[in-house]
Amino acid sequence: MTTSTILVINGPNLNLLGARDPNQYGAKTLDEINQILQNEFNTLSPSGKIYFFQSNHEGAIIDFIQQERTASGLIINPGALTHYSYALADALRDFPGKKAEVHLSNILERETWRAVFVTRDACDQVFMGKREDSYREALAWILGQLKASI
Ligand code: DQA
Repeated sequence: MTTSTILVINGPNLNLLGARDPNQYGAKTLDEINQILQNEFNTLSPSGKIYFFQSNHEGAIIDFIQQERTASGLIINPGALTHYSYALADALRDFPGKKAEVHLSNILERETWRAVFVTRDACDQVFMGKREDSYREALAWILGQLKASI
């Protein structure tokens, strides 16, 4: 992939958005959220490319990050992997581009086990607690970072 490419990666159970607890995750499906991001990306970065990937499997997500390591940035909602996956944290550390971690809910205000996030330190910025707007903020931030670094 070229240097003007952004990846949007979603981990386990996020394929079920729309059917999961709307109080935590909002009512939008993952396809709807991805469409919002695609539209905003088209406006903000018309010459770039944005790719969407979702998997329920830790290894598949790590393979994807390794395979696409020439992309200029990524936005990731690791789902529950955020709370325990040192393997994913290392894969993120080894990805050279800009990295934004996203959560729909505010994981600091839920069960205590969710307040531990091991992937956080491997990312440059975290956006959470604003449902789909967490992704929108992450996209705006990452494009701003890339513009500033040109
Ligand atoms: C989540 C929060 C995680 O704790 C949870 O396991 C998810 C979604 C969020 O977007 O709020 O699957 O990452």
